[in-house]
Amino acid sequence: MNRARRSYLGLGIYLAALLLLPITLTGQTSVPQPPPILLGTAWYPEQWAESRWEADLALMQQAGIHMVRVGEFAWSRMEPSEGRYDLDWLDRAVAAAAKHEIYTVLGTPTAAPPAWLTQRYPDTLRVDEEGHRAEHGNRQQFNFANSKYRDLARKIAEQMAKHFGHNPFVIGWQIDNEYADVSFDAETKVQFQQWLKMRYGTLDHLNAAWTTSYWSQTYSDWNQIPIETRYGNPGLLLSWKRFVSDTWRSYQKNQLDVIRPNCDSRQFITTNTMGWFDGFDHYTVEQDLDLAAWDDYVGQGHLDPAKNGAADDLTRGFKRKNFWIMETQPGFVNWAGVNTSLDKGEVRAMAWHNVGHGADTVSYWQWRSALNGQEEYHGTLVGADGTPVPLYPEIQQLGADFAKAGSVLAGTSPKSEVAVLHSYDSRWALQWQKHNREYDPVAELVSYYRPLRAISQSIDVVQASDPLTAYKLVVAPGLNVLSDTAAKNLAEYVRQGGHLVLGQRSAMKNDDNGLQLEGQPGPLVELLGGRVEQYYALVDPVPVTGRFGASQGKLWAELLNASSQDVEVLATYGKSNGWLDGKPAAITRQVGKGRITYFGAWLDDAGMAAAAKWMAQTSGVKTALGPVPEGVEVYPRYGSNGAVYILVNFSKTQQTVPLPSRMQDVLEGGARQSVTLPRYGVAVLSANR
Ligand code: GLA
Repeated sequence: MNRARRSYLGLGIYLAALLLLPITLTGQTSVPQPPPILLGTAWYPEQWAESRWEADLALMQQAGIHMVRVGEFAWSRMEPSEGRYDLDWLDRAVAAAAKHEIYTVLGTPTAAPPAWLTQRYPDTLRVDEEGHRAEHGNRQQFNFANSKYRDLARKIAEQMAKHFGHNPFVIGWQIDNEYADVSFDAETKVQFQQWLKMRYGTLDHLNAAWTTSYWSQTYSDWNQIPIETRYGNPGLLLSWKRFVSDTWRSYQKNQLDVIRPNCDSRQFITTNTMGWFDGFDHYTVEQDLDLAAWDDYVGQGHLDPAKNGAADDLTRGFKRKNFWIMETQPGFVNWAGVNTSLDKGEVRAMAWHNVGHGADTVSYWQWRSALNGQEEYHGTLVGADGTPVPLYPEIQQLGADFAKAGSVLAGTSPKSEVAVLHSYDSRWALQWQKHNREYDPVAELVSYYRPLRAISQSIDVVQASDPLTAYKLVVAPGLNVLSDTAAKNLAEYVRQGGHLVLGQRSAMKNDDNGLQLEGQPGPLVELLGGRVEQYYALVDPVPVTGRFGASQGKLWAELLNASSQDVEVLATYGKSNGWLDGKPAAITRQVGKGRITYFGAWLDDAGMAAAAKWMAQTSGVKTALGPVPEGVEVYPRYGSNGAVYILVNFSKTQQTVPLPSRMQDVLEGGARQSVTLPRYGVAVLSANR
């Protein structure tokens, strides 16, 4: 950058800073602070003439947008040829946004390598499982394990960090974009074999852990070990996924290590993940980041608050603190079967649902569609002509909402009495060996989550190895793979007085995806005082009766056996395949002040609702706000000033919610003893102000 330009830019930044900086009484200025609850959008200044930026930013400001995410696909603009960096335009974009009170999150552009790069270094292109090398023309064509690619990625990230690491209007970094596609090239395979050597030490250990005597799979050389993703030995399959997770982690760390030392500590570093996507273990990758963020798209149809809320809670569980919605749909997407739009009002309702689950930012993808490119049909906030789309006023209302509620929600976060355990190892293991093609581990998790959330109005989704003692109830819907360390943590939780509920297929596998010698639930058999005698895949549901009324078990049934006298049978199977008839379907056992329960049946909705009620009652779980009409979602967030309750009406009709005490209506003003919400209506209520 030439000197004159730099000083011109410096002046621009200075003037913009004057507009935003809070000036203290002593006349000192401090770094500007973005609003606590941020409305944002993905903005691609590189796709437009600079003369247009002002109009776009003014429209964003009018909508109450205070954040733009910029740059994540702009590599060819930032580095037009190898080693020739041009970030001046990005300086100007950040400064122009700041003039409109808009802060920037910078994306490193490594999900979209430029054509010169792939032409010069074809080995940086990823190879798919069938051996085809990717080409230029789309995005994400890079090989995540390739050392040359990592060199180039590191250099551009470093340039950006050195340039923007102290810019007061850059509040954070997004590394790459939606890690997803992996490579099956020869270099990656060698790295996998080296990874196996690190993990197992000797081939004897590996052969024993994977029982490779089966089908003559025994390895006598590390380089004999293949990559398998679907039909291989279960130990091999799980190892590949763990290698992929570690490789994404090191891919990310490669950039983190040059961003962190070059930027202010106030700038966070994140990446944007994809909800239930299970291409890698997110707990592995997230441990190095400051903040979790995900891209929340409904696709076809409407928001399912339980399934989507569980994905919010999953993301909150990565760092066990508030998170961001880095992308969400402005009405509709372009990639679903039928790209239906969310209803009028539903976009705002969804944003508040996310904030209720602990999102501190909701950012729309995208502001305006590029005039050409693969996503021309995707929803936006302004049209191709640059004028607001019909959704824009709803976003504007949201901007006004966030401005009103920001100070009340600042520093608050969800807190739950119930934890639902989630494990990528288990999800993968179940998917590789479903035994019933309809079996979906996420659906199983949500079937527990849904009624439990309706009762408790707040749930954490965490790992079995996380600290659990603060929870009254811990539910593990399908904890198929259980390591000894996690088993110890769970047993300790029960001994300390907690209630652990295991769902079907729990603890069938050890940490290498092999069968547990003790049967199910593996290391917890003794504590449970019972175990799974046999499992049966079902086409037709089986009747289940007992403590949860008369219901039906679907897809899978486990015949339970209680070996200890003090085990209580909660439910039994009715007449079905003969084997199951009259046998225990759910058992529970008190252990000191704690309790362990096992569900061998996947109950239908009515059965699940009754079971959730029993779980909550037995464990002393309370409802956060109090009973509300069906379809009204309650989201408590707690801070030093007490509780704030966000209420969203997802039912089809208007609903009135009685409140347990008089509360401040943060959006509408005034104090209320009850609140009436139209369909998709939102209320933010403060209990202590
Ligand atoms: C993903 C990507 C975005 C965009 C949207 C479209 O989330 O991160 O770049 O392609 O999908 O829905």
